[in-house]
Amino acid sequence: MKSTRAVAHSNIALVKYWGKREAVPGQPDDLNLPAVGSLSFTLDRLRSDTLVAPDPRDSFILNGEHHADAPKIFRHLDRIWRATGRAAPRPTTRVSSTNFLPTAAGLASSASGFAALTLAAAAAYGLDLPNKDLSVLARRGSGSAARSLWGGFVRQHRGGDGGDGCYAEPLFPQDHWDLRLLIVHTARGPKSISSTEGMQRCRATSPYYQPWLDTSEADLAAAEAAIAARDLSALGAVMERSCFKMHACMLASAPPILYWNGRTLDVIRAVWAAREAGLPGFVTSDAGPHVKVLTLADHAEPLAAQLRDVPGVFEVDVVAAGPDAHVEILA
Ligand code: DP6
Repeated sequence: MKSTRAVAHSNIALVKYWGKREAVPGQPDDLNLPAVGSLSFTLDRLRSDTLVAPDPRDSFILNGEHHADAPKIFRHLDRIWRATGRAAPRPTTRVSSTNFLPTAAGLASSASGFAALTLAAAAAYGLDLPNKDLSVLARRGSGSAARSLWGGFVRQHRGGDGGDGCYAEPLFPQDHWDLRLLIVHTARGPKSISSTEGMQRCRATSPYYQPWLDTSEADLAAAEAAIAARDLSALGAVMERSCFKMHACMLASAPPILYWNGRTLDVIRAVWAAREAGLPGFVTSDAGPHVKVLTLADHAEPLAAQLRDVPGVFEVDVVAAGPDAHVEILA
């Protein structure tokens, strides 16, 4: 095997992935098939930088710290080795990853992390596949990771029930449209419920889960058309709807899932008030209390300044569209 390095950028879903399909009998139980398609915006600056190299034993180093026990990482290496078609055991491997993400926790590193790991490990093991097929492998590590293989705007397809057609592909490149995403930090510390667990509870108990599934493809089509036309109001409307439908689905679960805090709501109201006053921004939020606001480049700094003044906001990062992931062979 070779030593490799990959860099993949984080992404935020504008139309959300929330929910997993049940495992298909006769197929591996780790396909991680999303119940809906999704559409994302890749982020500049926020990224994972991952080195993969042969080593006498498996090891995982994250931000300089050794983690003896990292089952998700080593299972992912097994998966990639199996895809090469070569006999077990796979070579023992060192994975060393650095996340360049905002210091306040709550922004998932799994998207950029599993995308970079997939690219680096595939190159290290000599697995030469088109990115579309690598996106399928990345998805099995984490659903949102499939979208982090490309810059700009990326779509993850739901595909058929058996998993056919369930891959990600780039829609529009990084320079298609000069947008900014403001990341408004409303808390510190890790999230309370993992997204995997939250998705399971929604599927099992939320009366809104089926309507959530039924309305997703229309949102994806509307968002794609709005991005093609560079129409922020149209994109913002569908993006907010997708976000609030997802959270409504969670709120109606038993017991309820509530990722927001009071400041989350204060920030959402502040964005809406700014919009009323002529400074357009549109909100979304994920499995955590932070608010992400999509706006045009020219409006980003004035809007960020207003949001920094909302009591309890820790910081506001202003992030542009990010580039494609890339990989290099080191030795
Ligand atoms: C709310 O990709 O973290 O951010 O497939 O279980 O690893 P797993 O889930 P993950 O879920 C992301 C959920 C979300 C919406 C999104 O990114 O589309």
